[in-house]
Amino acid sequence: MSIAVVPGSFDPVTKGHLDIITRSARIFDEVIVVVLQNPAKVTTFSVEERVDFIKRVTSDIPNVRVDSFSGLLVDYMTKENANVIVKGLRAVSDFEYEYQMALTNRKLKPDVETFFLNTSQEFMYLSSSIVKQIASFGGDVSDFLPEPIQDDVQNRLRKGN
Ligand code: PNS
Repeated sequence: MSIAVVPGSFDPVTKGHLDIITRSARIFDEVIVVVLQNPAKVTTFSVEERVDFIKRVTSDIPNVRVDSFSGLLVDYMTKENANVIVKGLRAVSDFEYEYQMALTNRKLKPDVETFFLNTSQEFMYLSSSIVKQIASFGGDVSDFLPEPIQDDVQNRLRKGN
């Protein structure tokens, strides 16, 4: 059985993330979406909120499970007995950093492979931080955020919390 892990900050999950998760679920038997810590980012939403958002937007995909983990991605891979990491690549600018992480993860755990999926064209420019900026100024985020979480994300950011 092929188990793939889609790791990320998901602060919050966007339509771009959901596109990668949905397409992964068509390729692999089981997909685990895991909320991890990115030490380079200060997050807006708590781990519990981010997990809840992902659960709500993936509830109709039977082979997707949502989890969180504090620690190294490779340790999570060992814990779940998974050996495929799936990452979405938006533009060339993503490549260097993602390639560095893929090589590092393979060095730490040689039986782990990283698969890169190219982001669908309509989500090429999308990022959680851009979406948060639009929402915090009361802009329309319906093109960027999955419908089940739009109101909650927008309300929370409008309040400036
Ligand atoms: O959505 P992001 O912020 O680009 O995701 C990055 C993330 C969370 C996948 C990455 O920072 C990560 O793997 N963090 C866990 C700690 C770890 O394993 N670091 C070494 C990776 S080379």
